[in-house]
Amino acid sequence: MEVVINSSAQYLADLAAEAVDTLLRSRPDAVLGLATGTSPLAVYEALVRRHRDSGLSFAEARAFLLDEYVGLAADHPERYLTVIERVLASRVDFAPGAVQAPDGGAEDLVAACAQYEQAIAEAGGVDLQILGIGTDGHVAFNEPGSSLASRTRVKTLTEQTRQDNARFFDYDIRQVPKHVLTQGLGTIMAARHVILLAFGPGKAEAVHQLAEGPVSALWPGSVLQYHPHMSLLVDDAAASRLQLADFYRHAWDNKPSWQGL
Ligand code: GLP
Repeated sequence: MEVVINSSAQYLADLAAEAVDTLLRSRPDAVLGLATGTSPLAVYEALVRRHRDSGLSFAEARAFLLDEYVGLAADHPERYLTVIERVLASRVDFAPGAVQAPDGGAEDLVAACAQYEQAIAEAGGVDLQILGIGTDGHVAFNEPGSSLASRTRVKTLTEQTRQDNARFFDYDIRQVPKHVLTQGLGTIMAARHVILLAFGPGKAEAVHQLAEGPVSALWPGSVLQYHPHMSLLVDDAAASRLQLADFYRHAWDNKPSWQGL
């Protein structure tokens, strides 16, 4: 795992955007994995700028979201597919239908999960996955206790996550769905490159456990220690509990210039 620590969240977002840019210019039909939440927003802004100012195109690309709430109305503004449409997809040139999410409104949720796994497989798998992490260490919506080999399935949110996400629902936890569909940890591990962004002191323990803790279902993101191409981009506050922070900074400062993330 490569850990990049920087005081500027914008610098880190630009690094992630640069990786997406490099991929799409070499493989225009690449498959992206997109996360919701606040952490990747600056990456999406940077991608919109690159589309507008330097011709970065998503016309042949496809994208898969990590997760979706169960039971939100199709026109609910916090439905994750709607969120991604708003912050990214509608502002660049994805083809219609090129961005998909698991169907949290399906009558048969189990079948919807299986279909989603199949759609990812038929697209050839995810080339580059943008990821965030919850304060309790969840990635996508894989809460503590998740199987490290899990695939897309129905999950129940922890009260901590519902509390964290209440800010998107008028600060009213009762409006936050209890159930979600989420790619599993095994699904995320199959992405060929994972870039996880985390900012602020609230993420410091989750980041430490992810990068340096024992691999454990208690901190689901820790399974990413097994990922062969994993980039962890954190600001100083989110890095504040990393034991090897000095070494990560040293390694980044001395990285050969020809190597990207
Ligand atoms: C949600 C999403 C996760 C995201 C997490 C952290 O629970 N399902 O994919 O990583 O929130 O969000 P934020 O980046 O806003 O802290």
